[in-house]
Amino acid sequence: MALLKVFDPCAICLLCLVLSASELCNGGITGNFLRKEYSPDMPLDSDVFQVPPGYNAPQQVHITQGDTDGRGVIISWITPDEPGSDTVLYWSENSKNKNRAEGIFVRYKFFNYTSGYIHHCTIKNLEYNTKYMYEIGIGYTIRRFWFKTPPRTGPDVPYTFGLIGDLGQTHDSNVTLTHYESNPKKGKTVLFLGDLSYSNDYPFHDNTRWDTWGRFIERNAAYQPWIWTAGNHELDFAPQLEETTPFKPYMHRYYVPFASSHSTSPLWYSIKRGSAYLIVLSSYSAYGKSTPQYKWLRDELPKVDRSKTPWLIALMHCPIYTSNSHHFMEGETMRVVFESWFVKYKVDVVFSGHVHAYERSKRISNIAYNIVNGMCTPVDDQSAPVYITIGDGGNHDGPAIGMMEPQPNFSAYREASFGHGIFDIKNRTHAYFSWHRNQDGYAVEADSFWFHNSYWNPLGKSFVAQH
Ligand SMILES: *[C@@H]1O[C@H](CO)[C@@H](O)[C@H](O)[C@H]1NC(C)=O
Ligand SMILES: *[C@@H]1O[C@H](CO)[C@@H](O)[C@H](O)[C@H]1NC(C)=O
Ligand SMILES: *[C@@H]1O[C@H](CO)[C@@H](O)[C@H](O)[C@H]1NC(C)=O
Ligand SMILES: *[C@@H]1O[C@H](CO)[C@@H](O)[C@H](O)[C@H]1NC(C)=O
Ligand SMILES: [Fe+2]
Repeated sequence: MALLKVFDPCAICLLCLVLSASELCNGGITGNFLRKEYSPDMPLDSDVFQVPPGYNAPQQVHITQGDTDGRGVIISWITPDEPGSDTVLYWSENSKNKNRAEGIFVRYKFFNYTSGYIHHCTIKNLEYNTKYMYEIGIGYTIRRFWFKTPPRTGPDVPYTFGLIGDLGQTHDSNVTLTHYESNPKKGKTVLFLGDLSYSNDYPFHDNTRWDTWGRFIERNAAYQPWIWTAGNHELDFAPQLEETTPFKPYMHRYYVPFASSHSTSPLWYSIKRGSAYLIVLSSYSAYGKSTPQYKWLRDELPKVDRSKTPWLIALMHCPIYTSNSHHFMEGETMRVVFESWFVKYKVDVVFSGHVHAYERSKRISNIAYNIVNGMCTPVDDQSAPVYITIGDGGNHDGPAIGMMEPQPNFSAYREASFGHGIFDIKNRTHAYFSWHRNQDGYAVEADSFWFHNSYWNPLGKSFVAQH
């Protein structure tokens, strides 16, 4: 550190970037990488949107975790012309016996759009840590895929999550997905931070863009689970089209295992996977005191057993700490309601999207304030989560370039570039986070951070009294 002091501040920041050792530096870093402002959508005849050949062939195949512990998988797909079959045939790699599971299908109308037949099939009681093949469709249109179940839940299970938010369907979206797929760290499950297809930005919320998006992500989402968080682009609330049921297309298309965590809504739920306990929250559903989401989270957090799942991770679309001028302060109401719980229960990290940029906070909290004491400044707090915004999947809204200046001291690193993240859990005490900017090579880390588990390996004492 003594050596660093001879350099000017810019040189120090540069050195931090080079070393990816931002813990050494006190001031936050603003990456000066500038990308183009607007990303055009991939045209409808793009390769990524191709319909699989054959009459009524299953398309838009995607999987997600189907139970609390990772022994279940929900397999979803759409048949465009007629219901076809709800059956999934599946077998473990080393077995010749095909098992059969029966699903259901749903449909919905949105303005003048009628969806295809949206199939959902939950398969349960799978073996841990096992590769399974699965087949859907009939006759000439049978399509085969595979996935791997996670290891049995346990405190020192290594596991690698990918993080993607605000993806959309532009050329940049395709670059983000490609970089995630090519990253040598090999993410095994995507934690998706909301804002999927951006269909609502097209005339009359053109729902065929939900279909193109489903076909675009199939190449990854059919083979590894994507854990879904709802964003504002999932609302599809359009009274001008007489469409007043929020989340209608999203909730028909993307099933999640909410009932197994005693949630009453697919918009908030929890799962355990490897050594992680994942809590998904909805920024666009009520969360004030006495609301269903509030009561669910209040009852959920005490259930987390850090001796079984040391890593407590929350996902939400709208960030509650951001220094970007886009969507500034939009997360403030949820911060007021939930932040003290995040500190009390030592949440390790809160991931969000929404802001089309990347930002990582220090461990800070702002929970001392009540309406009479005036104590309303974020302070260092080692019991508090790190807040990471990764809303930079590449959608057509363009990057969020405007930032609040100067960079507040709670912000450790921020940059308006597209990219994805990797959260690589090593054991109960250590996890390594990296953020990968699209313009770099697949393996390059533009920002990184060693997480010390807040329960097993805290770095310091909280300044704030626990309640
Ligand atoms: C829905 O209505 C819009 C506006 O009238 C029109 O452009 C579009 O082609 C219609 N789509 C269908 C599937 O009828
Ligand atoms: C999307 O990326 C894949 C490679 O990952 C490539 O094969 C494909 O051609 C790309 N499509 C478009 C429209 O950019
Ligand atoms: C930011 O700076 C202010 C003023 O110096 C200080 O009171 C506060 O604790 C700092 N917060 C963080 C997170 O470092
Ligand atoms: C946990 O992982 C870290 C980082 O890889 C390593 O340094 C540490 O020794 C590991 N702890 C144990 C108990 O293996
Ligand atoms: Fe958003």
